[in-house]
Amino acid sequence: MASKDAPRAPLPMAGFTPDPNADRELVNIHDYERAAIQKLGPGPLAYYTGGAMDERTLAANREAFQRRMIVPRIMTDVSKLDPSVMVLGRRWPHPLWVTPTALQRLAHPDGELASARAALARGLTFGLSTSASTDMADVAALGGPRWYQVYLLEDPGARRAMIERAIDCGYEALVLTADLQRLGRRERDIRVGFTIPSGVTLPNIAKAAGVPPEEAAQVPFVSTLDWRSLEWIASFGKPVVLKGVLHPEDARRALDHGASAVVVSNHGGRQLDGAIASLDALPGIVEAVGGRAPVLFDGGIRRGTEALLALALGATAVGIGRPVLWGLATAGEQGVGRVLDLLIAELELSMALAGCPDLSAVAKLVVRNHYGQNM
Ligand SMILES: Cc1cc2nc3c(=O)[nH]c(=O)nc-3n(C[C@H](O)[C@H](O)[C@H](O)COP(=O)(O)O)c2cc1C
Repeated sequence: MASKDAPRAPLPMAGFTPDPNADRELVNIHDYERAAIQKLGPGPLAYYTGGAMDERTLAANREAFQRRMIVPRIMTDVSKLDPSVMVLGRRWPHPLWVTPTALQRLAHPDGELASARAALARGLTFGLSTSASTDMADVAALGGPRWYQVYLLEDPGARRAMIERAIDCGYEALVLTADLQRLGRRERDIRVGFTIPSGVTLPNIAKAAGVPPEEAAQVPFVSTLDWRSLEWIASFGKPVVLKGVLHPEDARRALDHGASAVVVSNHGGRQLDGAIASLDALPGIVEAVGGRAPVLFDGGIRRGTEALLALALGATAVGIGRPVLWGLATAGEQGVGRVLDLLIAELELSMALAGCPDLSAVAKLVVRNHYGQNM
């Protein structure tokens, strides 16, 4: 009989293989946010982290995940997972993309090039903003899957020139952002007096408008965006993804007017303060679209478990915004890579633990509120 005090061999814990080389400081996306806050100067920090006015929508994007719980399934073989998904004719290895965020050179001298390289290394589609601080041709030269986000310029010649250039550069889809009819009032930027520092420019606007780079920030966007604008951009023959959709009727109309996909988004809480949380808008839009087109989602995703929730509510794939900027500010291309790897690993782990070998199983998961009730 073994004595109570006899030394015991370590318990064999099947599957428990802690990585001795794991980074113990930057364990999750929240750690990257904290690290980025330490690194960024006051202007870039305000610009990246801020939302509009009282930041109700910014907070609601996060809080909407807290209100929802997954009902996991069991007894399904999840030894092999397939997290891939078809989006506009391309198979994405993971249901994630880098959603466009402006001015990435505020975070790191390599800016968008570093983020795009990290995305490319993982087969993820990279969204380049009209307001990027890197020329679209330089990102295209990396050769990865890429979408170009369009703000329509006021001048008709410049407007057309920018779209034609994106198509020439091999961008596979044009993402028309619909929720920036005017710039939201971002009070953190006002308080720190944020301006674009010299040395950081907007080359895609400058080239299209034919102005010197230092004047690009003054080039106006159209103030008359409407459904005809969507039809016009669709007439170039590339798939158009309408970003900033929050109302089911707008999602239907988007498809009627030529969009190939929609992005449920409130611009990370930076435009209309008080706009509904992206996650709360998602189910209604999924229902309205009824499987006719991909429904992408962004807003507040900081965990693979949160990506799982959005996918369970019917998103085809999810966009990652600020976490990419935090990775970039913390450690350039490597930091963005780590942020993406963490999200991918967390999503795969949560798929397995929810009993989902693939995304069609995820789409069937039941989501309840945090009291366990139907929503
Ligand atoms: C600093 C910053 C800049 C952004 N710039 C753009 C942009 O140029 N075009 C655009 O369509 N969306 C832009 N967005 C919105 C993002 O594409 C996305 O909708 C949002 O960041 C998603 O929320 P998340 O940051 O919580 O992931 C920006 C967001 C941030 C935080």
